[in-house]
Amino acid sequence: MVNSNFLNMWFETVFSQLPNLLPVISNLSKISWGGSKFVYKALVNGRWEAIKVCHLNLLQQDDSIRLRAFREIDSLTKLTSPYIVKLGQIEPHVKKINDVEFLIYSEEYLPGKSLQDLMQERYVPSEEELKNLLNCLLNAIEETSLSHLVHRDIKPGNVIKNISPRTFVLIDFSIALTTDPNLSSLTATGMMSPRTNAYAAPELFAVDYHQIVTYRTDLYCAAYTVFSYALGEPYFKNINELLGPNRCPLLCTLRTDISEKFSCFLARLLKKDSNLRSGNITKLKEELKSL
Ligand SMILES: Nc1ncnc2c1ncn2[C@@H]1O[C@H](COP(=O)(O)OP(=O)(O)OP(=O)(O)O)[C@@H](O)[C@H]1O
Ligand SMILES: [Mg+2]
Repeated sequence: MVNSNFLNMWFETVFSQLPNLLPVISNLSKISWGGSKFVYKALVNGRWEAIKVCHLNLLQQDDSIRLRAFREIDSLTKLTSPYIVKLGQIEPHVKKINDVEFLIYSEEYLPGKSLQDLMQERYVPSEEELKNLLNCLLNAIEETSLSHLVHRDIKPGNVIKNISPRTFVLIDFSIALTTDPNLSSLTATGMMSPRTNAYAAPELFAVDYHQIVTYRTDLYCAAYTVFSYALGEPYFKNINELLGPNRCPLLCTLRTDISEKFSCFLARLLKKDSNLRSGNITKLKEELKSL
């Protein structure tokens, strides 16, 4: 378990050092921190950007966080969809603070809140908003799959509800998996897939996940994000429920204001067996539009 006081202290220390390390930035403020990085906001040459600071050897002495960080940057370099966050002006570089190594780079700043923040505020999205969210995520997955990438961590904390017309934007490619056999060295391998348990697709728990995980994994996670966002919390309460035989019910049985048509559409992506999920993204987008 990560000690949150310890990370909070480092979040503050990095905050106080960043203006010296990055003279190009101004108006620095704090956003948040997670398992591998601290996130700040600052003006870079007059543009707001999110400053990402990955701690490379603070919690782990092995190369796993370093690999994650470079994998994320590598993925973002390839992707151009408006529904996926873009890199900013600060090129990735490593700096030391008190003997700890940090990889610093920036992304465009996405004004708005994550879906996780909105769920915590007990915000209740309409069916129209849920359809729009799913459409944005389908567009993002269409592009990642063409680049042979599986995001693996689509969840409310990794989607920003942004200002129109981009509306919903996918962030945090730190555990993206490449399915291109020529590039497999970019992906850290291990017995278990990295994942966020509360929002993971069932196949991410398999020991042979490398053989099973495809863009259909992202389709499940996208639909489950929509489902959870509609309910204000994840439907499955623990891993046993998530891996058990019971599927998510039709959303309209839990939210009576949601149509049966849209609920059935979501259900096709929420099948626990990935082979049974609808998989033609172009068709899915067309169908969603006509609902
Ligand atoms: N480009 C951005 N623009 C605005 N806010 C952002 C941006 N990137 C991240 N954030 C905010 O910071 C939070 C954490 O960012 P991110 O998901 O990239 O890191 P993390 O979850 O800490 O990473 P990791 O999973 O690698 O530990 C997000 O939930 C979001 O609120
Ligand atoms: Mg995240």
